[in-house]
Formats: sequence, structure tokens, C-alpha cells
Amino acid sequence: MKWVAVFCLVFTLVACQDLPLAEQCDEELCQLPDCRCSSINIPRGLQARDTPQFVLVTFDDNVNIINIDTYREVLYNRQNSNSCPAGATFYVNHEYNNYQLVNELYNQGFEIALHSITHQTPQTYWQEATPEIMAREFGDQKIQMAHFANIPYESLKGVRIPFLQLGGNSSFQAMSEYGLEYDCTWPTIAYTEPGLWPYTLDYASTQDCVIAPCPTASIPGVWVIPMVSWRDLNGTPCSMVDSCPIVPPFSDEDAWYRFIVTNFERHYLNNRAPFGFYIHEWYLAVNPAVKRALIRFLDLVNNLNDAFMVNSHEVIEWMRNPVPVDEYVQQPCRTFTPTLCSANSCGPLASEHNEVDYWMQICNVCPRVYPWINNHLGI
Ligand SMILES: *[C@@H]1O[C@H](CO)[C@@H](O)[C@H](O)[C@H]1NC(C)=O
Ligand SMILES: [Zn+2]
Repeated sequence: MKWVAVFCLVFTLVACQDLPLAEQCDEELCQLPDCRCSSINIPRGLQARDTPQFVLVTFDDNVNIINIDTYREVLYNRQNSNSCPAGATFYVNHEYNNYQLVNELYNQGFEIALHSITHQTPQTYWQEATPEIMAREFGDQKIQMAHFANIPYESLKGVRIPFLQLGGNSSFQAMSEYGLEYDCTWPTIAYTEPGLWPYTLDYASTQDCVIAPCPTASIPGVWVIPMVSWRDLNGTPCSMVDSCPIVPPFSDEDAWYRFIVTNFERHYLNNRAPFGFYIHEWYLAVNPAVKRALIRFLDLVNNLNDAFMVNSHEVIEWMRNPVPVDEYVQQPCRTFTPTLCSANSCGPLASEHNEVDYWMQICNVCPRVYPWINNHLGI
């Protein structure tokens, strides 16, 4: 079976689909730092009260001159109680993305992750995507993002598939091929209280498959950060905040604050699985009271001495070496290599997939045509 995997890595043939079927997870064989069974158990058997409560704030889709204002207002210059800068993760897709602003976010210490080149409809495109297509959408996007935003290739570690539509093994296969570390696409509604902790795909996952198909092959070393669903006011599960059906009145900041805190407490007062605030920026832009409630909530988190707003990759780092809070707060803050942006405004750029002429704000030399899947650098 190892040979098949090596063969696939080298040749990336579409026909090469004989991944080994994942077997039931064996806690004896599957151990940190590189392997973890899917489970609601706190790593290393820590007590909940000794476990850092991670808070993952993530935004999806392209970064532009409109939504950057919200990011600056809500996220910049925040500190956790351990005096480390607060984190957030951006799942960025390519079309209409402003790469100069991605460079800014990276240099503010936030994490940039991948959300595909095309973000195309219909949703079945993702459901049926082959490993080859996933490699073009995410593997090539890793190269594209590093190039146009001028940020380190290795800093790009995370993937979220558009519409949270998994494609079985295929995206995970592409991730393993391109050195991507974790996926944050897969919702769980069955493991919310207590919540499911991140785990690897070496062995069979026990996570409920909400948006099929889910992976069943063994894909060693790739991590899943389950999107532990919220509950709306009726108890209906929702994986993104902006998809919760029954919510407080949009103008009621206090009710929204309570709504967020109630969902947070399901984690904080239980097994402390990472708490996700997964949202699209437009929801905050059109609902200023929701934005103010979020700011209040983040102020609360930043003042708790056992809760930490971090980049998603930092959760994986902690998973690999799970230390209790008192030790965690002694650890050095995350570091990153700052990069410059030699800004270029490029356009009009003809596109090879539609009739649109595009403009691009980038930190590199201008491409010849508008970059797209199968020509991700626009050469
Ligand atoms: C994933 O891989 C396993 C093992 O090769 C296979 O049985 C399963 O059908 C694959 N899943 C999909 C959706 O292709
Ligand atoms: Zn999206």
C-alpha cells in the first residue's frame, strides 16, 4: 500500500485512486504528535479546567477594500491574556481578491489559508472533484497565493472547500501531496456537547458526515479541524454563524452578545474543544449591532486567562504537544517572517475563462492574463 501512495505522489494520476481504506482507530498505535484518533477526549487526558480554550475566528472569501475595514476594526491590535497577539484565519479565494491586503493581513500576524482558485458553482463541482481538480484548486492556489501576496509558501497550511462541500478523499489527497496541514471544512452536528477535537486521517473518522462524501481512506498526517456546530435559538445546528436560521433581532446587540456567549459556554464549560466563530464579513457589515456584539465577545475572550484567540494552525501546534494552561502561557508567542509588498496594480487583464477584464492588486510583477485554474500564475 505504501508503494501505491508513493506512486500517486510522484505521478498524480487521476486513475490512481487505490488509497488504503482507513481502519478503525487504535489508540495504542495512533499517538501524538503525528496521529490522533477522532474523539471528544481532551488530548493527553488533561482536565478541562487545565485546558486552554482556543477560539478560532475565521472569515471566508476574497479580501477587498470594503471588508478590510471590518478586519482592521474588529481584529487588529488585540492581545490575549498571555500578552501574545490575538489570531484569526482568512480562507481566501482568488477571484477579485486583493493580494496587497492579504499581504497586510499576513504582516499583522494573521493566518492566510486557502479557499480555492475558482470558488465555482454548482456545488456538485466540489462534491465530484477528482484529486487532480483539488490539486489544481488548492495545491496551485498555494503557489499562487505565495506569489501574488508575497508571503511564504510554507505559511499556507489550511484549506476550506467552498460551500463546505467535501469531495471524499480527493481534497485530502491533494493536501497531502502539497504539504497542507489541516482542513476546516467538515461540520459536525453529532459531537457538539462535548465537542469533537481535531484529529488526523491516519485511521477511520467517527465524525458524522453532514455534507457527503466524507473521506474514508487513510491519509496519514492530514489534520481535520471539525467545525463544531453552533445551536441557533431553536436548537438547530449551524456551522457558520451567518447560516444560523433563528437568531436574535439584528439590531439587538445585547441579545447577540448573549447568543455568542451561550454558544461559547457549550465549549468553555465542557471539554473545551476549540470554539469556532466562522463567518463571512458581509454579515457584520450589514448588521453593526452583531459586529459590536462580536467585539464585546472578543474583549471578553482576551480578558479570560484560560481562553485564547489564535490562528488555526496554532491549535494544531498545541494538539501535537498539548500542555496545560499554566505551561501554555509560558510559551513564546507565535512568530512569522514579515514580508514586503512591492505593490503593483495590474489591468485590464484579459481572462481566458470568461469575457471579463480584471484588475489585480498584487505584490509582484503583473501577469500576462488573469490567472485562473490551469494557469494559476497567468503566464
Ligand atoms: C476513498 O478511498 C477509499 C479507499 O480507497 C474508497 O473505498 C472510497 O470509496 C473513497 N471515497 C470516495 C468518495 O471516492
Ligand atoms: Zn466561500
